[in-house]
Amino acid sequence: MSKIHAAITAVHGYVPDYILTNKELETMVDTNDEWITTRTGIKERRILKGEGLGTSDMAVPAVEALLKKRGIGADELDLIIFCTTTPDRVFPATANILADKIGAKNAWGYDLQAACSGFLFGLATASQFIESGKHKKVLVVGGDKMSSITNYKDRATCIIFGDGCGAVLLEPNEEGNGIIDSILRSDGSGVAYLHQKAGGSVKPATHETVDALEHFAYQEGQAVFKFAVTKMADVAAEVMERNHLNADDIAWLVPHQANKRIIDATANRTGVTADKVIINIERYGNTTNGTIPLCLWEWEDKFKKGDNLILAAFGGGFTWGSIYLKWAY
Ligand code: UT7
Repeated sequence: MSKIHAAITAVHGYVPDYILTNKELETMVDTNDEWITTRTGIKERRILKGEGLGTSDMAVPAVEALLKKRGIGADELDLIIFCTTTPDRVFPATANILADKIGAKNAWGYDLQAACSGFLFGLATASQFIESGKHKKVLVVGGDKMSSITNYKDRATCIIFGDGCGAVLLEPNEEGNGIIDSILRSDGSGVAYLHQKAGGSVKPATHETVDALEHFAYQEGQAVFKFAVTKMADVAAEVMERNHLNADDIAWLVPHQANKRIIDATANRTGVTADKVIINIERYGNTTNGTIPLCLWEWEDKFKKGDNLILAAFGGGFTWGSIYLKWAY
């Protein structure tokens, strides 16, 4: 019997309608379009507006469209892994909330937190349930409402982040397509450079933590940049070397969209030419867990069965990793 791989069989995404442009940010903080564009590559990002809406509300339209595309019902899903850093609530898991909203009454699920690398960690985890034969249909969702933890008075962070969500369905594949290899890494000493100060068990929410703006994302950009620019590139190159792939063998490089300069460094290190590097950062900014599935969604029409894709990410934790997969349809 041939080996079972976990293959992506459907993908869809959702971004909110509201567009926050660099021009509008100029009216909010001391910044300018030229600085943001040259330092990050971002021109605009989407913001989820509306009282009482959370990350799951972006997942619902993405997943409903995905299921329709694949021609299956939500009740056929076995497992939902929701990769997010901005869950609807601290508990219960957003995966459970999503399952209820879409009617996935036969699925179990949980949230996975690995900051910007979350979607890759989720894909690698989900693939184990498929490869073992335990499950046939696993939904991996990656999404964040970063606007809920962004301080729009802090120019160092508010220019980067945006809201968005994507989802993929994983199913068994016996033709040799699907997730072939992954390298995932973490280093918890990175907590100093990228974190949310309050709201967890170390520092529960109080009036003081709210007044001190400690519920927003805190980032020491330069320090994170230094790690990201080398680690993401190195791990992408490592997964390629390990699988005897050179740049010509790669159809698409799908990098986490945190900063155009980090994406370019990863492309340079792997030798993959610009025409094969998927970039939408100029329209969405950094949607954390949403970046990679949103890229897959927008480029889906261009992928061909058997294409070699290299996915790569770096994020808070620190966490980083790369996945090699063969597109299955
Ligand atoms: O998603 C996964 C994890 N996150 C990342 O991978 C993000 C990694 N870091 C970055 O992408 C970059 O560090 C940032 C985009 C966050 C910042 O870019 P930078 O080139 O590292 O800027 P910097 O923090 O070194 O600041 C350079 C200068 C400073 O001014 P001085 O001290 O040189 O006078 C900042 O005060 O730019 C200033 N600055 C700004 N100026 C205009 C910082 N933010 C802004 C701004 N507009 N928004």
